[in-house]
Amino acid sequence: MKAIVLVGGFGTRLRPVTYAVPKQLIPVAGKPMLYHVLDLLPPDVEEVVLATGYKADLLAAYVKAHPVRWPVRTVPEAEPLGTGGGMRNASAGLSDPFFLLNSDVLASADLGRMRSVHAAHGGVGTMALYEVDDPRPYGVAALGSGDRITAFVEKPEPKDAPSRWINAGIAIWRRDVIDRVPAGRAVSFEREVVPGLLAEGVYGFRLSGYWEDAGTPERILHAQRLLFDDHRGGPGGVPPGARGTGPVATMGAFSAREASFGPYVTLGEHVTVEPGAHVENSILMDGVAVGREAHVEGSVVGPGARIRATHRVVGQVLGEDAEA
Ligand code: GDD
Ligand code: MG
Repeated sequence: MKAIVLVGGFGTRLRPVTYAVPKQLIPVAGKPMLYHVLDLLPPDVEEVVLATGYKADLLAAYVKAHPVRWPVRTVPEAEPLGTGGGMRNASAGLSDPFFLLNSDVLASADLGRMRSVHAAHGGVGTMALYEVDDPRPYGVAALGSGDRITAFVEKPEPKDAPSRWINAGIAIWRRDVIDRVPAGRAVSFEREVVPGLLAEGVYGFRLSGYWEDAGTPERILHAQRLLFDDHRGGPGGVPPGARGTGPVATMGAFSAREASFGPYVTLGEHVTVEPGAHVENSILMDGVAVGREAHVEGSVVGPGARIRATHRVVGQVLGEDAEA
């Protein structure tokens, strides 16, 4: 089987970091979000096709420089085609069936088992579903007998949400669903195509364990805690010469002597945390410098940003080269 991964969104809810870096390359628990998504794929997947748009060149260069176990190809779109248009644009040579993954969902999921479930029911698609308290920001499914999906509403009004089981952004589809996506314009697969496929048999695959859409600052940090707790977060201890508690994932050279760390931190390459500074529950991207006695907590700090001595940065998103 092949996989299409949708990587074209603008990451608007993670601005200003995403002005410089596509959301999928923001490191979470020691590696870019996209790479945690790819980790879910079964080892025998033949090819991963990244349907790219925004910052396509950066993504293509990154995956070339950081290969994974599967061959990866990027297929850029000239203008945003939405989830449906993006998958259609990337569909040449696709397998039947194929995996379709959003690139911002961090989860525990057994896609090998999902593939068996899909083969057994013989329908047109299988969507991984996750139960949440508030389904409004997601696509929501109603389930009938045998977990067949009987209704699907994208981002419903509260009164219209048919259940609390949401589209987890991980699915298997028969190849010919591509033909149902109108050509030549932006198409939301979830709004415009999925409801019309239900009559042919779309089944839910209920996920247990954890799941998060890492599209906002709060959620990306929550996802990072989940991944660390699941031991998917790299080496993990407090860096040599520093104090405090891990997990702390380091992605390259850094300097953190006499700094202190709370739990759940990612340090990109060439990060400097000066003596007496404290960092917790945060992501510091490449080249970030934290001054003496500064305090960084609950924040996503873009590449090259500088935080002055004694300053407090709490619950913030700082863009590339920002000064705080
Ligand atoms: N190629 C391409 N082109 N990809 C796109 C485009 C586009 O124009 N727009 C969005 N994407 C990608 C995003 O990068 C992301 O990986 C995925 O498609 C979904 O887009 P989001 O913008 O993150 O959508 P969402 O989070 O509001 O909703 C989607 O995900 C939810 C689960 O996280 C939907 O699939 C919901 O049904 C689902 O519940
Ligand atoms: Mg999303």
